[in-house]
Amino acid sequence: DALRHIVQRMPKAELHIHIEGSLEPELIFALAKRNNVALAFDSVETLRAAYAFTDLQSFLDIYYAGASVLLTEQDFYDMTRAYLLRAQQDNVRHTELFFDPQTHTARGVAMDVVINGIWRAVQDAHTEWGMTGALILCFLRHLSEDDAFDTLEQAMPYRDKFIGVGLDSSELGHPPEKFARVFAKCRQLGLHLVAHAGEEGPPAYIASALDVLHVERIDHGVRCLEDAALTARLARDKIPLTVCPLSNLKLRVVAQLSEHNLLQLLDAGLVVTVNSDDPAYFGGYMNDNFIATFEALPLTRQHAQQLARNSFDAAFLDVPTRQRYL
Ligand code: HPA
Ligand code: ZN
Repeated sequence: DALRHIVQRMPKAELHIHIEGSLEPELIFALAKRNNVALAFDSVETLRAAYAFTDLQSFLDIYYAGASVLLTEQDFYDMTRAYLLRAQQDNVRHTELFFDPQTHTARGVAMDVVINGIWRAVQDAHTEWGMTGALILCFLRHLSEDDAFDTLEQAMPYRDKFIGVGLDSSELGHPPEKFARVFAKCRQLGLHLVAHAGEEGPPAYIASALDVLHVERIDHGVRCLEDAALTARLARDKIPLTVCPLSNLKLRVVAQLSEHNLLQLLDAGLVVTVNSDDPAYFGGYMNDNFIATFEALPLTRQHAQQLARNSFDAAFLDVPTRQRYL
């Protein structure tokens, strides 16, 4: 129909996608077989049936289990290649991919295996389709700041292959302040800075991500509307929010998409973007997120175009590349 056609045609950037969250059940089983890794599920169907989440933690437990099949550089390449191919079909022209090195290094997978596999797929997508891409290394916030420092040190030999750092995993009880020193170090290194905040956590976590970590974008951030002064500040400073509607639905941040605050966020003047977060787990890639949200909320064609434009405005692109996309 008309909506699907408009959404399909718009060039878009995806700024909130965990590459490990793009691992489809079929690929999990194929990699488990290739690598002789035992899974706690006996089929693709039983694994998919376990994707019934009640909150962020219930998802994370199964997301980390899925990632356990990734061992070789080719595994990371194949995962990333499959995502980029799918994104390309949705007319996504630029992606900034989150990856969670600690999920892999803790299992004895070397940092170079992780980064080189993902990065080679990004380079191939650029060569073959002209798609641009960049990597953002995420620290797992349920682990210690010392562990984050170790991870940063292990990644420094590959500094030319990632543009920034982020903060993900269990939000409640792990406020941004816990990572103040490692983010200060990353800032000195000239890395871009982002953090998940205000998904399950309170607006105060959004404020401290800005004040203490000095992040340039907020991942999720949907709870900002609970604090009018914070919302006004995000609008004034044009701090983008990378919103993930189907994720918010599946992790019960909202009970129904019709209750999602995406339109209020736009009406508050915020630089909102639409993203898929963990598309293999949440039931949809980029265009599915647009279409489901537009079917649930009174959004117009102008809103769709604004959201697509915002995705390039919010991207960490150099000026000529951004101009080329707009
Ligand atoms: N929130 C926090 N951590 C995550 C997410 C998320 O939405 N996806 C993957 N890791
Ligand atoms: Zn996320």
